[in-house]
Amino acid sequence: MSYENILVETVERVAVITLHRPKALNALNDALMDELGDALLRFDADEAIGCIVITGTDKAFAAGADIGMMAGYSYMDVYKGDYVTRNWETLRRVRKPVIAAVAGYALGGGCELAMMCDIILAADNARFGQPEVKLGTMPGAGGTQRLPRAVAKAKAMELCLTGRMMDADEAERAGLVSRIVPLAELRDEALRTAATVAGYSLPIVMMIKESVNAAYESTLAEGVHLERRLFHATFATEDQKEGMQAFVEKRAPAFRHR
Ligand code: HXC
Repeated sequence: MSYENILVETVERVAVITLHRPKALNALNDALMDELGDALLRFDADEAIGCIVITGTDKAFAAGADIGMMAGYSYMDVYKGDYVTRNWETLRRVRKPVIAAVAGYALGGGCELAMMCDIILAADNARFGQPEVKLGTMPGAGGTQRLPRAVAKAKAMELCLTGRMMDADEAERAGLVSRIVPLAELRDEALRTAATVAGYSLPIVMMIKESVNAAYESTLAEGVHLERRLFHATFATEDQKEGMQAFVEKRAPAFRHR
Protein backbone atom coordinates (compact mmCIF):
# COMPACT_ATOMS: atom_id res chain seq x y z
CA MET A 1 0.00 0.00 0.00
CA SER A 2 1.39 3.41 -0.87
CA TYR A 3 0.45 6.17 1.51
CA GLU A 4 -0.77 9.70 0.78
CA ASN A 5 -1.67 10.94 4.23
CA ILE A 6 1.21 9.59 6.28
CA LEU A 7 4.97 9.27 5.82
CA VAL A 8 6.75 6.16 7.00
CA GLU A 9 10.43 5.53 7.56
CA THR A 10 12.56 3.20 9.59
CA VAL A 11 15.67 4.05 11.58
CA GLU A 12 17.31 0.76 12.52
CA ARG A 13 14.75 -1.02 14.73
CA VAL A 14 12.48 2.03 15.06
CA ALA A 15 9.58 2.81 12.72
CA VAL A 16 8.44 6.42 12.44
CA ILE A 17 4.96 7.26 11.17
CA THR A 18 4.45 10.96 10.46
CA LEU A 19 0.86 12.15 10.06
CA HIS A 20 0.97 14.18 6.90
CA ARG A 21 -1.95 16.48 6.14
CA PRO A 22 -0.09 19.62 7.22
CA LYS A 23 -2.45 22.11 5.57
CA ALA A 24 -5.37 20.71 7.57
CA LEU A 25 -3.31 20.47 10.78
CA ASN A 26 -3.31 16.69 10.31
CA ALA A 27 -7.07 16.44 10.65
CA LEU A 28 -7.79 12.73 10.84
CA ASN A 29 -9.96 11.69 7.93
CA ASP A 30 -10.89 8.12 7.09
CA ALA A 31 -8.18 7.82 4.44
CA LEU A 32 -5.48 8.86 6.92
CA MET A 33 -6.81 6.50 9.58
CA ASP A 34 -6.91 3.63 7.06
CA GLU A 35 -3.28 4.27 6.20
CA LEU A 36 -2.25 4.66 9.82
CA GLY A 37 -3.91 1.36 10.73
CA ASP A 38 -2.28 -0.41 7.81
CA ALA A 39 1.19 0.94 8.63
CA LEU A 40 0.84 0.11 12.32
CA LEU A 41 -0.14 -3.50 11.65
CA ARG A 42 2.66 -3.90 9.12
CA PHE A 43 5.29 -2.61 11.53
CA ASP A 44 3.83 -4.70 14.33
CA ALA A 45 4.31 -7.80 12.17
CA ASP A 46 7.80 -6.81 11.03
CA GLU A 47 10.44 -8.65 13.07
CA ALA A 48 13.02 -6.00 12.28
CA ILE A 49 11.01 -3.36 14.18
CA GLY A 50 11.02 -3.06 17.97
CA CYS A 51 9.26 0.24 18.62
CA ILE A 52 7.01 2.63 16.68
CA VAL A 53 6.87 6.44 16.88
CA ILE A 54 3.83 8.41 15.73
CA THR A 55 4.39 12.11 15.19
CA GLY A 56 3.06 15.10 13.25
CA THR A 57 4.32 18.54 12.30
CA ASP A 58 5.71 21.27 14.54
CA LYS A 59 2.28 22.94 14.52
CA ALA A 60 0.01 19.95 14.98
CA PHE A 61 0.19 16.34 16.05
CA ALA A 62 -3.44 16.25 14.92
CA ALA A 63 -6.20 18.83 15.37
CA GLY A 64 -8.82 16.12 15.64
CA ALA A 65 -11.05 14.11 13.38
CA ASP A 66 -11.74 15.88 10.10
CA ILE A 67 -14.69 18.15 10.82
CA GLY A 68 -15.49 18.79 7.17
CA MET A 69 -15.66 15.05 6.58
CA MET A 70 -17.89 14.43 9.59
CA ALA A 71 -20.20 17.40 9.20
CA GLY A 72 -22.69 15.73 6.87
CA TYR A 73 -22.65 12.22 8.28
CA SER A 74 -25.89 10.71 9.49
CA TYR A 75 -26.38 8.65 12.61
CA MET A 76 -26.38 5.45 10.54
CA ASP A 77 -23.19 6.46 8.71
CA VAL A 78 -21.28 6.65 11.97
CA TYR A 79 -23.19 3.99 13.94
CA LYS A 80 -22.54 1.27 11.38
CA GLY A 81 -18.86 2.01 11.81
CA ASP A 82 -18.21 2.59 8.14
CA TYR A 83 -17.07 6.15 8.77
CA VAL A 84 -15.11 8.13 11.37
CA THR A 85 -14.65 5.41 13.96
CA ARG A 86 -13.92 2.38 11.81
CA ASN A 87 -10.17 2.30 12.39
CA TRP A 88 -9.75 3.91 15.73
CA GLU A 89 -9.19 0.74 17.69
CA THR A 90 -6.45 -0.59 15.39
CA LEU A 91 -3.79 0.97 17.57
CA ARG A 92 -4.96 -1.14 20.50
CA ARG A 93 -4.10 -4.30 18.55
CA VAL A 94 -0.45 -3.26 18.27
CA ARG A 95 1.63 -5.27 20.72
CA LYS A 96 4.90 -3.41 20.28
CA PRO A 97 5.40 -0.14 22.17
CA VAL A 98 4.14 2.99 20.41
CA ILE A 99 5.42 6.44 21.34
CA ALA A 100 3.46 9.59 20.50
CA ALA A 101 5.81 12.51 19.87
CA VAL A 102 3.45 15.47 20.17
CA ALA A 103 4.19 19.00 19.00
CA GLY A 104 1.52 21.64 18.64
CA TYR A 105 -2.14 20.74 18.74
CA ALA A 106 -3.35 17.36 19.94
CA LEU A 107 -7.07 18.03 20.02
CA GLY A 108 -10.13 15.84 20.00
CA GLY A 109 -9.25 12.70 18.08
CA GLY A 110 -5.63 13.90 18.04
CA CYS A 111 -5.53 13.84 21.84
CA GLU A 112 -7.32 10.49 21.82
CA LEU A 113 -4.81 9.08 19.34
CA ALA A 114 -1.92 10.25 21.52
CA MET A 115 -3.57 8.67 24.58
CA MET A 116 -3.86 5.32 22.78
CA CYS A 117 -0.08 5.31 22.48
CA ASP A 118 2.03 3.86 25.26
CA ILE A 119 4.16 6.92 25.99
CA ILE A 120 3.48 10.57 25.18
CA LEU A 121 6.52 12.79 24.73
CA ALA A 122 5.52 16.42 24.38
CA ALA A 123 7.30 19.35 22.78
CA ASP A 124 7.15 22.53 24.83
CA ASN A 125 4.56 23.94 22.40
CA ALA A 126 2.17 20.98 22.72
CA ARG A 127 -1.47 21.69 23.54
CA PHE A 128 -3.97 19.03 24.48
CA GLY A 129 -7.72 19.21 24.61
CA GLN A 130 -11.09 17.62 23.93
CA PRO A 131 -12.98 20.47 22.21
CA GLU A 132 -15.76 18.30 20.74
CA VAL A 133 -18.34 19.93 23.00
CA LYS A 134 -17.85 23.16 21.02
CA LEU A 135 -18.97 21.31 17.89
CA GLY A 136 -22.09 19.84 19.42
CA THR A 137 -20.58 16.41 19.82
CA MET A 138 -18.36 14.58 22.27
CA PRO A 139 -15.16 12.55 22.34
CA GLY A 140 -15.66 9.29 20.47
CA ALA A 141 -12.32 7.49 20.59
CA GLY A 142 -11.68 7.13 24.29
CA GLY A 143 -11.35 10.75 25.42
CA THR A 144 -13.87 10.43 28.23
CA GLN A 145 -12.30 7.14 29.32
CA ARG A 146 -8.54 7.50 28.92
CA LEU A 147 -8.28 11.15 30.00
CA PRO A 148 -9.73 10.53 33.49
CA ARG A 149 -7.39 7.58 33.89
CA ALA A 150 -4.44 9.80 32.91
CA VAL A 151 -5.26 13.08 34.68
CA ALA A 152 -7.99 12.15 37.19
CA LYS A 153 -11.63 13.07 37.07
CA ALA A 154 -11.78 16.78 37.88
CA LYS A 155 -9.38 17.88 35.16
CA ALA A 156 -10.71 15.40 32.61
CA MET A 157 -14.26 16.51 33.26
CA GLU A 158 -13.30 20.18 33.00
CA LEU A 159 -11.42 19.67 29.74
CA CYS A 160 -14.25 17.65 28.16
CA LEU A 161 -17.01 19.97 29.38
CA THR A 162 -15.35 23.29 28.56
CA GLY A 163 -13.19 22.34 25.59
CA ARG A 164 -10.28 24.35 26.96
CA MET A 165 -6.77 23.33 26.01
CA MET A 166 -3.95 22.56 28.41
CA ASP A 167 -0.35 23.35 27.61
CA ALA A 168 2.58 20.98 27.89
CA ASP A 169 3.46 22.02 31.45
CA GLU A 170 -0.06 21.40 32.70
CA ALA A 171 -0.22 18.10 30.81
CA GLU A 172 3.03 16.96 32.40
CA ARG A 173 1.97 18.03 35.90
CA ALA A 174 -1.30 16.17 35.39
CA GLY A 175 0.47 12.99 34.30
CA LEU A 176 -0.71 12.88 30.69
CA VAL A 177 2.76 13.19 29.21
CA SER A 178 5.88 11.46 30.37
CA ARG A 179 8.29 14.28 29.55
CA ILE A 180 8.52 17.68 27.87
CA VAL A 181 11.39 18.43 25.50
CA PRO A 182 12.22 21.56 23.49
CA LEU A 183 10.41 21.51 20.15
CA ALA A 184 13.65 21.35 18.17
CA GLU A 185 14.67 18.20 20.05
CA LEU A 186 11.36 16.33 19.99
CA ARG A 187 12.06 14.08 17.03
CA ASP A 188 15.59 13.16 18.13
CA GLU A 189 14.45 12.52 21.69
CA ALA A 190 11.54 10.36 20.51
CA LEU A 191 13.92 8.40 18.29
CA ARG A 192 16.40 8.00 21.16
CA THR A 193 13.70 6.78 23.52
CA ALA A 194 12.32 4.42 20.89
CA ALA A 195 15.81 3.11 20.11
CA THR A 196 16.36 2.40 23.80
CA VAL A 197 13.15 0.38 23.96
CA ALA A 198 13.84 -1.33 20.63
CA GLY A 199 17.29 -2.34 21.86
CA TYR A 200 15.83 -4.49 24.61
CA SER A 201 14.34 -7.92 24.12
CA LEU A 202 11.18 -7.61 22.03
CA PRO A 203 9.21 -10.38 23.79
CA ILE A 204 10.09 -8.88 27.17
CA VAL A 205 9.07 -5.40 26.05
CA MET A 206 5.79 -6.80 24.74
CA MET A 207 5.13 -8.54 28.06
CA ILE A 208 5.82 -5.32 29.96
CA LYS A 209 3.41 -3.39 27.73
CA GLU A 210 0.74 -6.05 28.18
CA SER A 211 1.23 -6.06 31.93
CA VAL A 212 1.12 -2.27 32.38
CA ASN A 213 -1.99 -2.07 30.21
CA ALA A 214 -3.62 -4.75 32.36
CA ALA A 215 -3.48 -2.27 35.24
CA TYR A 216 -6.26 -0.38 33.45
CA GLU A 217 -8.41 -3.38 32.64
CA SER A 218 -8.36 -5.54 35.78
CA THR A 219 -8.52 -5.65 39.55
CA LEU A 220 -5.24 -5.30 41.43
CA ALA A 221 -5.25 -9.02 42.28
CA GLU A 222 -5.88 -10.03 38.65
CA GLY A 223 -3.24 -7.61 37.41
CA VAL A 224 -0.63 -8.82 39.87
CA HIS A 225 -1.47 -12.41 38.95
CA LEU A 226 -0.95 -11.68 35.24
CA GLU A 227 2.27 -9.86 36.04
CA ARG A 228 3.55 -12.86 38.03
CA ARG A 229 2.75 -15.26 35.19
CA LEU A 230 4.44 -13.00 32.63
CA PHE A 231 7.44 -12.62 34.92
CA HIS A 232 7.65 -16.42 35.04
CA ALA A 233 7.34 -16.50 31.26
CA THR A 234 10.39 -14.26 30.83
CA PHE A 235 12.43 -17.21 32.10
CA ALA A 236 11.41 -19.16 29.00
CA THR A 237 13.15 -16.63 26.74
CA GLU A 238 16.69 -16.71 25.42
CA ASP A 239 17.00 -13.04 26.22
CA GLN A 240 16.46 -13.52 29.96
CA LYS A 241 19.37 -15.97 29.93
CA GLU A 242 21.47 -13.52 27.94
CA GLY A 243 20.48 -10.48 30.02
CA MET A 244 21.32 -12.07 33.35
CA GLN A 245 24.44 -13.88 32.09
CA ALA A 246 25.74 -10.61 30.65
CA PHE A 247 25.26 -8.91 34.01
CA VAL A 248 27.12 -11.71 35.78
CA GLU A 249 29.94 -11.53 33.22
CA LYS A 250 30.03 -7.72 33.44
CA ARG A 251 29.41 -7.20 29.73
CA ALA A 252 26.66 -5.64 27.63
CA PRO A 253 23.85 -8.04 26.72
CA ALA A 254 23.31 -8.99 23.07
CA PHE A 255 19.58 -9.56 22.94
CA ARG A 256 18.32 -11.77 20.15
CA HIS A 257 14.73 -10.66 20.60
CA ARG A 258 13.43 -14.13 21.35
C1 HXC B 1 -10.77 19.67 9.52
C2 HXC B 1 -9.27 21.27 10.26
C3 HXC B 1 -9.35 20.77 11.57
C4 HXC B 1 -10.19 19.64 11.83
C5 HXC B 1 -8.01 22.45 11.57
N1 HXC B 1 -8.42 22.30 10.29
N2 HXC B 1 -8.56 21.53 12.36
N3 HXC B 1 -9.97 20.71 9.25
N4 HXC B 1 -10.88 19.12 10.76
N5 HXC B 1 -10.31 19.08 13.03
C6 HXC B 1 -8.05 23.09 9.12
C7 HXC B 1 -8.73 24.45 9.11
O1 HXC B 1 -10.04 24.34 8.59
C8 HXC B 1 -7.82 25.24 8.20
O2 HXC B 1 -8.07 24.90 6.87
C9 HXC B 1 -6.45 24.68 8.56
O3 HXC B 1 -6.68 23.41 9.16
C10 HXC B 1 -5.71 25.54 9.55
O4 HXC B 1 -6.55 25.75 10.66
P1 HXC B 1 -6.87 27.19 11.28
O5 HXC B 1 -8.10 27.08 12.07
O6 HXC B 1 -6.83 28.23 10.22
O7 HXC B 1 -5.59 27.40 12.22
P2 HXC B 1 -5.50 28.19 13.58
O8 HXC B 1 -6.22 29.50 13.47
O9 HXC B 1 -4.04 28.20 13.92
O10 HXC B 1 -6.31 27.33 14.65
C11 HXC B 1 -5.87 26.06 15.01
C12 HXC B 1 -6.98 25.29 15.81
C13 HXC B 1 -8.27 25.29 14.98
C14 HXC B 1 -7.20 25.97 17.15
C15 HXC B 1 -6.43 23.89 16.05
O11 HXC B 1 -7.96 24.86 13.64
C16 HXC B 1 -9.33 24.39 15.54
O12 HXC B 1 -9.99 24.73 16.51
N6 HXC B 1 -9.53 23.24 14.92
C17 HXC B 1 -10.58 22.30 15.30
C18 HXC B 1 -10.19 21.52 16.50
C19 HXC B 1 -11.29 20.56 16.94
O13 HXC B 1 -12.43 20.99 17.19
N7 HXC B 1 -10.99 19.27 17.03
C20 HXC B 1 -11.96 18.26 17.41
C21 HXC B 1 -12.61 17.68 16.18
S1 HXC B 1 -13.88 16.53 16.62
P3 HXC B 1 -8.21 26.03 5.71
O14 HXC B 1 -8.52 25.24 4.48
O15 HXC B 1 -9.27 26.97 6.16
O16 HXC B 1 -6.85 26.67 5.69
C22 HXC B 1 -13.03 15.10 16.95
C23 HXC B 1 -13.89 13.89 17.28
C24 HXC B 1 -13.04 12.66 17.40
O17 HXC B 1 -11.86 15.03 16.91
C25 HXC B 1 -13.87 11.42 17.23
C26 HXC B 1 -13.00 10.20 17.07
C27 HXC B 1 -13.76 8.98 16.68
